[in-house]
Amino acid sequence: MNYPKCVKIVEVGPRDGLQNEKISVDVDTKVQLISLLTDAGLSTIEAGSFVSPKWVPQMAGSDEVFARLPTHAATTYTALTPNMQGLERAIACGVKEVAVFAAASESFSQKNINCSISESLNRFKPVAEEALKSGLAVRGYISCVVGCPYQDTVDVEQVVQVATELLAMGCYEVSLGDTIGVGTPASFETLLNRLLKDTAADKFAIHAHDTYGQALANILRALQLGITTVDSSVAGLGGCPYAKGASGNVASEDLVYMLNGLGIQHGIDLPKLITAGNFISHKLNRANGSKVACAQSPMAES
Ligand code: HMG
Ligand code: MG
Repeated sequence: MNYPKCVKIVEVGPRDGLQNEKISVDVDTKVQLISLLTDAGLSTIEAGSFVSPKWVPQMAGSDEVFARLPTHAATTYTALTPNMQGLERAIACGVKEVAVFAAASESFSQKNINCSISESLNRFKPVAEEALKSGLAVRGYISCVVGCPYQDTVDVEQVVQVATELLAMGCYEVSLGDTIGVGTPASFETLLNRLLKDTAADKFAIHAHDTYGQALANILRALQLGITTVDSSVAGLGGCPYAKGASGNVASEDLVYMLNGLGIQHGIDLPKLITAGNFISHKLNRANGSKVACAQSPMAES
């Protein structure tokens, strides 16, 4: 079986994770968490989200978080920007990379960002153009690539179309979101085999929520098919506020453990990552969602 020599992990816990936790975390705690993750060696950390605070109150302090982040040459701190207003906030905070986020499901697009897929892509075009003009890198997300909480099926061709448009507007990479964690290695294989017919594997990342316990299996299959960038969330935090019941992304600690077992390089210090996950789990007063963290630090379960 072919595996990549090296995988880039995009840590999304401070955004995807904390946006969906019941307890709103203060700015000090967010900054401490991001500093611990930086110290653990994460090269890319999604540190916040410049969305409407009325829609996602947990991300309201993102401007202050970015203003206080450590300057660490080896780490890129990124943020979601749904529109020009979000991009202006990101630029004002000195953010170097932003992400626009579309969906492959019409109903999810309406619930999540209050517009259709095509309206969202029209809205993202000027955001991407302005971001690129200002020297920022732009990433794209597609939600619901293999299943949607609001409609029965998602058409693979719809994913292809949205991915093509995101790449055409200048996204350097498109992260394929299994928002509600219903995918299996078989559905990811079907999706990736179709996408990789037209587009190189290094244009895609996998973003696997673990609601049905399939995330590591899905990631393994994606690695075998040539994907080399994987999103994950420390302590398995979070979900999506507009996908009820969705649990967090694959836990970063569990992903790192699997990559270690496969002999794949990633640049992350597992014990330090576990410390970061235990820190935030304690602050949230919840069990650590990483099985590896629980196995390696008995306190993580309480
Ligand atoms: P809208 O209500 O249609 O927007 O929301 P609007 O332009 O009509 O504005 C309404 C109000 O929001 C106005 O304020 C704006 O100023 C304000 P008012 O006049 O009522 O006082 N507003 C903003 N404020 C601050 N920053 C902004 C901003 N934009 C508008 N950027 C909108 C449209 C897109 C804004 C809204 O639907 C929204 O913020 N949605 C975000 C939803 C979200 O964050 N979801 C979670 C992230 S996506 C995800 O988790 C999936 C992912 O992980 C991949 C996966 O797992 O699948 C990425
Ligand atoms: Mg997500």
